Amino acid sequence: MFIAVSTFTIANDMAPEVRDAFINRPHLVDNAPGFVKMDVMSAKDNPNEIWLMTYWTDEEHYTVWYKNHMRASHQDIPKGLKLVPHSSKVLYFNHISG
Ligand code: HEM
Repeated sequence: MFIAVSTFTIANDMAPEVRDAFINRPHLVDNAPGFVKMDVMSAKDNPNEIWLMTYWTDEEHYTVWYKNHMRASHQDIPKGLKLVPHSSKVLYFNHISG
């Protein structure tokens, strides 16, 4: 399995809206070929810091989704959301064991 971990930190007071947007996420990615599952978390010491883990059968399927369907999956990002500059990153992992 291939895992993409994405993180960003909310700079304004919109953490509740972001949380709701993830709870009510569009679920488009669920039907993407190669998608396995995703988890969304906020850091215990900073609720504005969001971590998103998406699990894929392999990197190629993730890349296809990212290039072609990422935008549609973000159509409901709360208006007015501000991020801490340079806080957003994506890290990539190979799964070893569960
Ligand atoms: C800093 C940039 C990002 C922000 C602010 C952000 C924010 C969000 C929010 C608020 C949602 C909930 C759904 C919505 O509002 O439309 C969402 C969904 C999602 N995001 Fe992001 N995201 C970011 C970057 C990324 C990256 C880089 C990835 C991939 C590694 C990613 C993967 C996803 C996935 C898979 C969903 C679920 C979509 C679905 O249900 O179809 N996001 N994101």
